[in-house]
Amino acid sequence: MPITTCVFDAYGTLFDVAAAARNVASEPGREAFAKHWPAIASHWRLKQLQYTWLRAVMDEHTDFWDVTQDGLDWALEAEGLADDPTLRDRLLQLYWELEAYPEVPAMLHALKDKGMNTAILSNGSPAMLNGAVQSAGIGDVLDDVLSVESVGIFKPASVVYDLVGQRFGCAKEDVLFVSSNGWDAGAAAGYGFTTVWVNRASEPVDRLPARPDHFLSDLTTIPELAV
Ligand code: LAC
Repeated sequence: MPITTCVFDAYGTLFDVAAAARNVASEPGREAFAKHWPAIASHWRLKQLQYTWLRAVMDEHTDFWDVTQDGLDWALEAEGLADDPTLRDRLLQLYWELEAYPEVPAMLHALKDKGMNTAILSNGSPAMLNGAVQSAGIGDVLDDVLSVESVGIFKPASVVYDLVGQRFGCAKEDVLFVSSNGWDAGAAAGYGFTTVWVNRASEPVDRLPARPDHFLSDLTTIPELAV
């Protein structure tokens, strides 16, 4: 079956979260953060994701804004910066004003020119995703923004991936799913999507039951896979 629908993870896939944190590190008065920012960014992302997985298995869902704050609080305390509420607020604000990776607008335009359905499928809450889509200026080349909040459980629960077929009326094999998270690309491959892992950091492949179908270092050639 030909691909009809291209679906993207949000954070780290379309939106450059790491660059946003790096930019805060270069702001005046952020010397303490500048020293610690790589560790904080890494702890923050890992804890944010761990909390999504743990809350899913514990049946204790809360939205992604809550786990984003919880992950940051853990990271700031681990690096001895828990007593700087201004820094905390500045870092959290980033999630509402992210930039897309430079190749994203042209890539999405090329998919729309080919007649593809395009969407985000993300753990993010609808409000967070709306903020990032507006800030990155890509709303006109996305047919929809699908959030896990409509099913109340985080990825990689299969009911999340079900949202794509429900929205676009397509079969699993008609979907090209793109994520920079190896675990998300692997889980979506097991679910039945054709998947792309955008492995910008050249990490090892996740040892999960299924492997992504395609491995890329950025999003430039995605339209070539949508056939
Ligand atoms: C998302 C996270 C996992 O956007 O990056 O769903």
